[in-house]
Amino acid sequence: MCGIIGIVGTGSVQERLIESLKRLEYRGYDSAGIAGVVDGHVQRRRAAGKIKALEDVLAGDPLNATVGIGHTRWATHGGPSTRNAHPHTAGRVTLVHNGIIENYSELREALKAKGRTFESDTDTEVIAALVDSELGSGKPPVEALKAALDQLSGAYAIGVLIDGEDDLIMGARKGSPLVVGYGKGEMFLGSDALAVGPFTNRIAYLEEGDYVAIDHGQARIFDVAGKPAKREIRTVVASAALVEKGNYRHFMEKEIHDQPEGCQRTIAAYVDTLTDRTAILGGIDFAGLERIQIVACGTAHIAGLMGKYLIEQLADLPVDVEIASEFRYRKPSLRAGSLAVAISQSGETADTLAALRYCQAAGMQSAAIVNATESTMAREVDVVWPIHCGPEIGVASTKAFTAQISVLTALAIAAARARGKIDEAEEQRMVRVLMEAPRLIAESIQLEEAVRLVAVEIAKARDVLYLGRGPMYPLALEGALKLKELSYIHAEGYAAGELKHGPIALVDDKTPIVILAPFDSYFEKSASNMSEVMARGGQVVFITDPEGQRHAPAGARVVVTAPRCDPLIAPLVMSAPIQLLAYYVAVQKGADVDQPRNLAKSVTVE
Ligand code: F6R
Repeated sequence: MCGIIGIVGTGSVQERLIESLKRLEYRGYDSAGIAGVVDGHVQRRRAAGKIKALEDVLAGDPLNATVGIGHTRWATHGGPSTRNAHPHTAGRVTLVHNGIIENYSELREALKAKGRTFESDTDTEVIAALVDSELGSGKPPVEALKAALDQLSGAYAIGVLIDGEDDLIMGARKGSPLVVGYGKGEMFLGSDALAVGPFTNRIAYLEEGDYVAIDHGQARIFDVAGKPAKREIRTVVASAALVEKGNYRHFMEKEIHDQPEGCQRTIAAYVDTLTDRTAILGGIDFAGLERIQIVACGTAHIAGLMGKYLIEQLADLPVDVEIASEFRYRKPSLRAGSLAVAISQSGETADTLAALRYCQAAGMQSAAIVNATESTMAREVDVVWPIHCGPEIGVASTKAFTAQISVLTALAIAAARARGKIDEAEEQRMVRVLMEAPRLIAESIQLEEAVRLVAVEIAKARDVLYLGRGPMYPLALEGALKLKELSYIHAEGYAAGELKHGPIALVDDKTPIVILAPFDSYFEKSASNMSEVMARGGQVVFITDPEGQRHAPAGARVVVTAPRCDPLIAPLVMSAPIQLLAYYVAVQKGADVDQPRNLAKSVTVE
């Protein structure tokens, strides 16, 4: 989603605004722009497309400002074009915005009736016009901002420049995050810690409804009621170094390779290596829980489905998993004795956050499995269960997915023990198995070359089916999601047993069918499905383990052999091949791996 940076600097800010926008590229965007105060007046430079296009504009027309704001835009209202790119200007006001203003057409009509004209199709321009109107009625900048905010409904994080004010940037947040960065004689605003990461690691997170005025030396923060507020300044670890690609071509490639370490760090936080027992923070009484309600979107939702398999099977604790955007609007019936668990890499996904708040309002205890521990979700739940895989930059989630599954596996073991479903010795055995996962994931990543060869073939396909049973079913969903979002090839994941109930009609000699089947209790049934597919000319890519390879029906066109492992950690070990497959198909097709078209990393609008 849109990224924001603001700098009240002592020297020229153009280069630094661009540097920060590059850090924000991972969020997904389709145009970019910057603005700064030059000789008392705000000037803008904008371009549709990548930041390179904006740099080209700046090469011919530099922006010599020491105060400036910048933005990467992911189109919501109005298509991706230079005209709709931020910053937007109305009179003395120029601003950037992340979020959606829900009452914008109403406001726009009212402003038009007063003689205002609009040059873009965006909701953002309306905010600029409102602030300018309030300035026009004689209010000083901060009061004008507050008066405008009071008229908005919807979600926003904004950064505002005012003509004639060369030591001021104002900001506000509601629904979308915004941070204030504290530098040495300079101050920053950013949509997240990474935006200001190149300049400072001292950060304050604004709270819901806060607005702020920064100058070169200070931030004046006000709460939703307009009262001066203090927000804790934290030193964060999102340093510039953590988000470099290193020797990898793409962040996604790096992040796939980061997984053994990411899972190791995550698992280490959920087990006690001295006793080989689980060690779950937060004091949740798993024995007393009636059920768990997981809410999430996309890949995080698929991790949740995996959690259901694990927790119900090991702990006999009912788990409901629902796509957050459906959950929040269908008025589900909830019980106070349940635990709500939000799963979100970013901790900011608008639908997941709303679903979480819905559960909290029903009196449920709440927990969040998040990567961004300073995120809104992390701050609003009773218990935070962090993953420790480091910042994930590639838009397609990889290392966060396996780290989420690592946490869910540890939770399942702990819940099983607390509910008397396993004894201490079995808990210790499982913890030891879980601790083997990072090594086996590393071995699985070694399949890279074999998978790359398969990818060359898959890249020619128009449709691909992914099939799996048991925990391999969610993984089939994940494989299909990864392939379609990265390579734009149509792909569907199915429970292998569903094949005969419809999808088998799609099988022909042009449709590759990826079957995920380690040699586990589901294997024989998956092997039968494989035979059914091959009998109809289907081209099978069989992802299994050495034992599965030995028992496979003859005729699978390609076999990828992952390391043999305990079924408990098969979802972790089998993830790398499907991620690598999607990655190499995208590379083969020349697609933009780290920023697939139309996608955003952190979906902070509904
Ligand atoms: C897919 C992907 C998305 C995210 C989804 C939720 O590769 O990355 O489907 O999983 O947008 O995002 P978070 O986890 O930040 O809530």
